Amino acid sequence: MNSDGGAVKLSVYFDSGDKLKVIVVNTGGNQFRAFADECTHGGNELNYDHERRRLRCSSLGRSEFDLEGNVLKGPAKESLRTYPVDKEAGFLVVTLS
Ligand code: FES
Repeated sequence: MNSDGGAVKLSVYFDSGDKLKVIVVNTGGNQFRAFADECTHGGNELNYDHERRRLRCSSLGRSEFDLEGNVLKGPAKESLRTYPVDKEAGFLVVTLS
């Protein structure tokens, strides 16, 4: 996660029983982005391809998304949900709203 191209996956559990999966990627130059870790086609997990600077679905369909969450390649049709990432006192803060 500290090096360019690193990524970390988080599972967040809410009191309501809801669960949210998030992938935070280091896009290089000390810049980070966070996305819902669910392909908008069928909900499969995503992987970060730093060389091509995109997120790829782990399913056979292999939808691809850019670093804004936009669909680059289907079958997914909807963009990924993104979350703001801030740096505070040496920590990354991801706002899940
Ligand atoms: S679930 Fe991602 S392409 Fe189908």
